[in-house]
Amino acid sequence: MNLQQLVEPDRVHKTVYTDPAIFDAEMERIFERIWVYCGHESQVKAPGDYHALTIGRQPMVMVRQGDGRVQVLYNRCPHRGVQVIGNLRGNTGSAFVCSYHAWSFHLDGSVRAIPLAKGYEGTRMTRDNPDCGMKRAARVDSYRGFVFASLVDDGPSLLEFLGEARVAFDDMCDRSPVGEVEVVPICHRVIQQSNWKFFMENQLDALHPSVTHQSTGISAGRVEKRLKAEGGSAPLYYHYLSTFASSFEQWDGVQTINFPRGHGILKAYMGLRPRDPDTLAYEALLEQAYGKAKMEEHLSRSIHHVLVYPYLSVQSPLQQLRCLRPISADKTLSEIWHFRLKGAPEAIYRRSLWYYNLVNSPATMINADDLENWTKAQWGLQSNGGDWVSFHRWYGDDRVENDVTYSNHGTSEAVMRNQFAAWSKYLTA
Ligand SMILES: [Fe+2]
Repeated sequence: MNLQQLVEPDRVHKTVYTDPAIFDAEMERIFERIWVYCGHESQVKAPGDYHALTIGRQPMVMVRQGDGRVQVLYNRCPHRGVQVIGNLRGNTGSAFVCSYHAWSFHLDGSVRAIPLAKGYEGTRMTRDNPDCGMKRAARVDSYRGFVFASLVDDGPSLLEFLGEARVAFDDMCDRSPVGEVEVVPICHRVIQQSNWKFFMENQLDALHPSVTHQSTGISAGRVEKRLKAEGGSAPLYYHYLSTFASSFEQWDGVQTINFPRGHGILKAYMGLRPRDPDTLAYEALLEQAYGKAKMEEHLSRSIHHVLVYPYLSVQSPLQQLRCLRPISADKTLSEIWHFRLKGAPEAIYRRSLWYYNLVNSPATMINADDLENWTKAQWGLQSNGGDWVSFHRWYGDDRVENDVTYSNHGTSEAVMRNQFAAWSKYLTA
């Protein structure tokens, strides 16, 4: 595999989406090295609470220990290799117990008991051997309550890795009067029948909404207009949908900012500061907590989407987070989460819930349209109808400053070009 021949500045070879060997290389050189999002601290509140996830191809479990710290372990019994945790989430009490031969482990992964230990005497598998514990992720760290793990000792710190994309978590948390969010512990888990990269490209693709989501956007816009003509006003959630059908000129005016590690920001386009009584009451709470200037700073960040490349899409103003767990070249699990702003009124939470259900849920008219595109993209690229995927739109037009690429046009394919530049760096490192 010669990666240089597969990725050019303005186009990529189709096999980067379809080849199982390239998928394995991505898992090994990217996902199983970088900081991967495990979950939010509020997912594991009490000692023994756990949450299962994958990092690359590795089954892991995030667990709250007795001392309050969050640990991330390989979900594997050191005896015969069985996954110790079979459920997605739960509470394991004070220990993990393997269902096969009842080896048990403390919440930090160290071995607690090997049953019928006499049979192991004189072998290397005795409890003083650290290999008799569940192996830990090499590094675990968190930022504003969001927990990440890396499976290798070397490489950048979590803050270095996040870089400018850390604003995703600042922007979400700063909207709470106490500076914290809490996960709503129900997530949509969707298997996308497509390569993970389609999803990442699509998030900042401002060219597609008024095509892909046209029927929904236009219909919602018509209802909004009718309600207004009848003397009323449409609920805010119609606006969530109608903005998808904004004109090309409007989309072209929304800038993307593209960072060296592939992270990126799509600036705000929805205008999310209505002047209704609920919003005013909420803003009063924020002003009380932070003062007027800070509140304005927090609420006026121009963000719609923040991408933490290569697996996270955060819509911080609406407290949405989607996390990819790639399964194979043509299959990707996406976890779709949303959060509650601690200390904010219920009415503000409902907005987040509406967005979750109307836009990001797999059952909506928006996500379903995207899912169909990605599946058809996978099918198209598996065909012999052509070898290349084009990222030529506004090529050469973007502004680059200190390694950051600012699009002059919102619909520039700078996003994809930048993601593949980062991808190539990871794969050839
Ligand atoms: Fe879309």
